[in-house]
Amino acid sequence: MNHMLRLVTITAIVLLFGQSWAEAENRPDPASDLKLDVGEGKRVYQSSCSGCHDTGKNRAPKLADKDAWAKRSFEWFSVMNNHATKGFLNMPPKGQHYELTDQDMANAVFYMLDQIREKP
Ligand code: HEC
Repeated sequence: MNHMLRLVTITAIVLLFGQSWAEAENRPDPASDLKLDVGEGKRVYQSSCSGCHDTGKNRAPKLADKDAWAKRSFEWFSVMNNHATKGFLNMPPKGQHYELTDQDMANAVFYMLDQIREKP
């Protein structure tokens, strides 16, 4: 009887855990509301990012320099975007342009990654 009770309790916990996990997976990702726009990203880049990324200041990976970006997780747009927005090692959050919105940041990162993408 005791064994049965324990089994039921464990099953209930597993089911509850699985349920809340499934709910977390289904929650909409706020980043999915962003509409990426290369042209808009170029505008943000030129006004807020080029100061370091054109010249490689503080060892910032230079725009369109494939080697400089190769060792970074460039296929992980969301990781790059998160790093650029929140800061990463020598990269200050939003490049210290705190007025930029999440949409601005996403566009700028999208533009930068577009510069190193293989194009047919
Ligand atoms: C004050 C200088 C500076 C400015 C301005 C700046 N960055 Fe950076 N950025 C850096 C440096 C330095 C790194 C390299 C970080 C490291 O590896 O130490 C970097 C790295 C990055 C990376 C790579 C992150 C990764 O995961 O490897 C991205 C993406 C990025 N910057 C985007 C941006 C965007 C977008 C802007 C404009 C909104 C911007 N940066 C403005 C200095 C700057």
